[in-house]
Amino acid sequence: MAALRILWMGLVFLGALGFLHTSAQDQDSVQPNFQQDKFLGRWFVAGLASNSSWYREKKKTLFMCRAEVIPSEGGGLNVTSTLLRKNQCKTETLLLEPAQKPGLYTYNSPHGGSAHIVSVVETNYNQYALLYSKGTKGLGQDFHMATLYSRTQNVGAELKDKFSTFCKARGFTEDEIVFLPQPDKCIQE
Ligand SMILES: *[C@@H]1O[C@H](CO)[C@@H](O)[C@H](O)[C@H]1NC(C)=O
Ligand SMILES: *[C@@H]1O[C@H](CO)[C@@H](O)[C@H](O)[C@H]1NC(C)=O
Repeated sequence: MAALRILWMGLVFLGALGFLHTSAQDQDSVQPNFQQDKFLGRWFVAGLASNSSWYREKKKTLFMCRAEVIPSEGGGLNVTSTLLRKNQCKTETLLLEPAQKPGLYTYNSPHGGSAHIVSVVETNYNQYALLYSKGTKGLGQDFHMATLYSRTQNVGAELKDKFSTFCKARGFTEDEIVFLPQPDKCIQE
């Protein structure tokens, strides 16, 4: 249980988020002509959906977090997130390794045992990105997740609708979709 929780902090908050409901063989779609350089910079993790039991329990206690995305050595992404935990600001880094095509990444839990595939399914780079991830091995295997990245802290109704539609198309129920409230600290500079 502790390992699962750590894994979740890793995934949810460290900013990767989003799990494909398809299997590794029929990979989820990625943004056509994905341009990683335009995806870099600051994002806010504004929405989540997952079917994991940890998430089901904790979803009401989660807050929006800030994520800084920079290129990592080897062509992947270094995602550093700042989040509120136990009333303190914490910073964590998640390394996404490039996979078969641009917009597709793999994430191996540093705590061992689990592997995930993360896909940037759709983005216009300057407002939003929709990500989908799923575990391919170990503890991650039995859940999937969708994540809404927003360039701004305030998310309009249109973007919320877009994310809900995206989640439902991947089998998430209304109940599993959460728009994260802004914390009173940590996401400001
Ligand atoms: C990821 O980026 C952070 C913030 O810039 C940096 O401190 C860290 O060393 C980087 N990690 C790796 C493995 O590149
Ligand atoms: C979550 O959904 C995935 C994909 O639909 C499924 O394989 C998995 O068993 C589900 N896990 C739970 C805990 O419901």
